[in-house]
Amino acid sequence: MNIIVTGGAGFIGSNFVYYELKNHPEDRIICLDKLTYAGNLETLKDAMKYDNFRFVKGDIADRETVYGLFEEEKIDIVVNFAAESHVDRSIEDPEIFIKTNVLGTQVLMDACRKYGIKRYHQVSTDEVYGDLPLERKDLFFTEETPIHTSSPYSASKAAADLLVLAYHRTFKLPVSISRCSNNYGPYHFPEKLIPLMISRAFENKSVPVYGKGENVRDWLYVEDHCSAIDMIMRNGREGEIYNVGGHNERANIDVVKTVLRIMDRSEDLIEFVTDRPGHDRRYAIDPTKISNELGWTPNTAFDEGIKKTVEWYMENREWLNGVLSGDYMEYYDKMYSNR
Ligand code: NAD
Ligand code: TYD
Repeated sequence: MNIIVTGGAGFIGSNFVYYELKNHPEDRIICLDKLTYAGNLETLKDAMKYDNFRFVKGDIADRETVYGLFEEEKIDIVVNFAAESHVDRSIEDPEIFIKTNVLGTQVLMDACRKYGIKRYHQVSTDEVYGDLPLERKDLFFTEETPIHTSSPYSASKAAADLLVLAYHRTFKLPVSISRCSNNYGPYHFPEKLIPLMISRAFENKSVPVYGKGENVRDWLYVEDHCSAIDMIMRNGREGEIYNVGGHNERANIDVVKTVLRIMDRSEDLIEFVTDRPGHDRRYAIDPTKISNELGWTPNTAFDEGIKKTVEWYMENREWLNGVLSGDYMEYYDKMYSNR
């Protein structure tokens, strides 16, 4: 099968590219990525060695580029990871979130309608459900939980989800949606909590914790998210939403302390800073549906996954420094300017 992976130069998309190359060598992966600040070609340097991998630089919201790609390749599946993904940036400047996350999704689905595909899979987030109260540990997001967004980021993801469901109902487009909790693991851009803490702690710099660090996130090792998406896009039912999460809720302050402990750094580095406006209190996923229907379960426990993640960053300081300094744009020019 020919599979377009959009946003494959980012955190989860790149992990998914490697997951597919390893587990489905019979398929061809075409990565379409705009290479925004969050996309890094260095991340895909090992994928470039595979004959069944192709990288295309382009914007999912650019109809000409997307249609052109569909004309060149006979596409079976589209998995859409491409997005502006950082809540704090969406608070600063929401517009690009609407362009990429909503309009980009529409352009991809229009191409799917025009050229025909077997499956369009939308990678969404548990953030579309809003948040849960900290004191109600008995409550979880199910696929029936109403959409109730807090940030421009989650609003743009929810809008895209509704559009995906509308294209299924109105045009019979064969779609599926996954809504996953917070991921962590290799190639995570150091603006998000865990890699930011790691990169700051490397240099013995203070680590900023919003508010009192009481907000709770439900953490899943990125490879477990990839295996869930792989199962859904191949075997999940059309028109369905699947929640993905591993029942691993932790308060931010506990996550930060765990990272500091693994890195042998003092908790004195913790600096409590002004809270994020509209900050969601607690996310918690009920993954019963994907587990019952598709037999999905996560493989990596948090204690193991977080150690592996810190070790990966220790062994890949160059990647981190490249991302931080913007060197990857030079890398891109060097590799692609003459093609
Ligand atoms: P990321 O920010 O690390 O990567 C996004 C990638 O998309 C980058 O490579 C970027 O260059 C690319 N991109 C951005 N705009 C584009 C455009 N217009 N056209 C083509 N490519 C574009 O994001 P991530 O954390 O890997 O998240 C991937 C997807 O998973 C997103 O849709 C996000 O909403 C969803 N998600 C993320 C998490 C998480 O914890 N990170 C959890 C659940 C769902
Ligand atoms: P983040 O990684 O931005 O993911 P999301 O907001 O999409 O869940 O943040 C995870 C949690 O960590 C969230 O509650 C905000 C908090 N946070 C901090 O306390 N300090 C930080 O510097 C960042 C980036 C996040």
